[in-house]
Amino acid sequence: MTIQEIYQLAIKMGIEADFRGKSAIEKLLKRTKEKYEKLAPKEKEEFDKEKFKNPFSDTRIHVDLGRRKIKKILAGIDIEVGEILLADRLGDIDLVIAHHPEGKALAGLDEVMKLQADVLNMYGVPINIAEALLKIRIEEVSRKISPINVNETVDAAKLLGIGFMNVHTPCDNLVAQFLKEKIEKEKPETVEEVLDLLKEIPEYREASRIGLGPKLFTGNPENRTGKIALTEITGGTEGSPKIYEKMAQAGIGTVVGMHISEEHRKEAEKAHINVIIAGHISSDSLGMNLFLDELEKRGIKIIPCSGLIRVKRFK
Ligand SMILES: [Fe+2]
Repeated sequence: MTIQEIYQLAIKMGIEADFRGKSAIEKLLKRTKEKYEKLAPKEKEEFDKEKFKNPFSDTRIHVDLGRRKIKKILAGIDIEVGEILLADRLGDIDLVIAHHPEGKALAGLDEVMKLQADVLNMYGVPINIAEALLKIRIEEVSRKISPINVNETVDAAKLLGIGFMNVHTPCDNLVAQFLKEKIEKEKPETVEEVLDLLKEIPEYREASRIGLGPKLFTGNPENRTGKIALTEITGGTEGSPKIYEKMAQAGIGTVVGMHISEEHRKEAEKAHINVIIAGHISSDSLGMNLFLDELEKRGIKIIPCSGLIRVKRFK
């Protein structure tokens, strides 16, 4: 596979696992194209045309090696200059894949957050409320990203001639879909049963060994779950802290997330929502693994680094 083919596969898998559904994404891509057509020539020049085919603004190729066939990948959760040097030192790495966004994909992290409004709506929160609260938070994230030196790692990969890309939301979508299917199949009734079900997953079991396994952040283990929402697994980064009250009103009893800030946790507690935190790096690992398995099946060797707990799900 070439880097382009690996990237196309990531997008395809991300769309297939997306809670918004394929037709909603197609509509979104069509609307993006229509918006572009209406732009002035100067604005068109600045427009990232990847957006016509890729609905995930936080997933991009940073260093493309063209037609080179990729044989060995160094894959990790956070890739910085150190990991690029590591790839160079290992000597036979063609491509480095990060999970968390870098370069242009980091600059575009805010845009992918719009996905959260649709996911909240899927669980019963009115779309107008979800969109309005999210808008404030998206602008905040955008301002927070603006001073970051987003190309530091990209430049290192360019200098050393190492292929570099990152896959964020497509992998997070795979986690959300995986957990949704497991929860729907096993139908847990209490919060403790959700925690037990998560602990059956090897990535979370491994994280438990270093004290970072699934944990209850608000609520009690014996609490009934009520409606379980997977609203904090995918969609870039944390949404609005004001959403919990609206979620409770929409009938959500339990949220399963990757991580939560203290401000958000307090708001969830006030709204009497049980918050189960599956774990950050372990959840990110699960999503990367579901994607990397598809590459390994096609004969590519995967070397895990930077916190990635590599678990294969095929023989
Ligand atoms: Fe993450």
